[in-house]
Amino acid sequence: MEEERLISPELEDVQEEKMEKTLRPKTLDEYIGQNKVKENMKIYIEAAKKRGEPLDHVLLYGPPGLGKTTLANIISNEMNSNIKITSGPAIEKPGDLAALLTNLSEFEVLFIDEIHRLNKSVEEILYPALEDYTLDIIIGKGPSARSIRLDLPKFTLIGATTRAGALATPLRDRFGIVHHLEFYDTKDLTTIVKRSAKILDVEIDNESATEIARRSRGTPRIANRLLKRVRDYAAVLDNGNINLKVAKTALTKLEIDDMGLDNIDRKILETMILNYGGRPVGIETLASTIGEEVETLEDVYEPYLMQNGFLGRTPRGRIALPKAYEHLNLPNPNN
Ligand code: ADE
Repeated sequence: MEEERLISPELEDVQEEKMEKTLRPKTLDEYIGQNKVKENMKIYIEAAKKRGEPLDHVLLYGPPGLGKTTLANIISNEMNSNIKITSGPAIEKPGDLAALLTNLSEFEVLFIDEIHRLNKSVEEILYPALEDYTLDIIIGKGPSARSIRLDLPKFTLIGATTRAGALATPLRDRFGIVHHLEFYDTKDLTTIVKRSAKILDVEIDNESATEIARRSRGTPRIANRLLKRVRDYAAVLDNGNINLKVAKTALTKLEIDDMGLDNIDRKILETMILNYGGRPVGIETLASTIGEEVETLEDVYEPYLMQNGFLGRTPRGRIALPKAYEHLNLPNPNN
């Protein structure tokens, strides 16, 4: 499988990206967890191949780090097709998308990450392309302007977004396959950590793999990142093998607590409790108090804190739940 990277990833450094790639599974059978998605995708892929048709367009949504890009690569691999990778913000003008679409080959996969960030004029080009593989372009200006219709190769769009709700309904409706990725349980993450350790050629015992998994906020990307840092500690402080003692030492140094919360998670909860006295606080206020973007709070931090009962949403704002007070050892004024 050949891969073309059209954009540089915003937040990931190149080294990590490279490493991450070798850890990434290449087939659905290698892919751990997300069983519902996997089982369904297997059927759709096999059926499309049997019919000799491209796979229907796929929308993957869910918090960052759960394997949307990995899955897109796997899907193209399983379809024996190429993949081109880009992102919503990288496609600025309708012409950018037109160029991408007309350069696709038959059955190729176009992966658009952060597809909720496409602008309206670009989105409108996408509709006929998805619906009947055509591209309407306007040439010329003023009274002599005319529209011509181009046929596009039969391709598959895979869109990824952290929130399906942010997509315009007409766009969402044009995906024949829609899957929500969920946080991984500790068991699946343990299996991922052990698989990654093997690839990285580092010895790890069961207990340590479970400890890293437990503290990874249900997210493979975090599990792999923590594994690499623990490996560093094991190499420097010990004989290079990972045991529970060195794993715990490393995780403590990284300020990942017993529940897998990091210092920003704790800062969010502490700010709500200490600065706002446990009353509901608006997301904008919260974001500016802790110096993060609203979108980062909503997409990266909140989902895990909400799912695990630390934070709630009310009509008047976000609120710290009793579990947050307990975890941070702070008195709850509502008691
Ligand atoms: N690495 C990252 N995500 C993975 C997954 N779901 N299965 C196996 N390895 C992974």
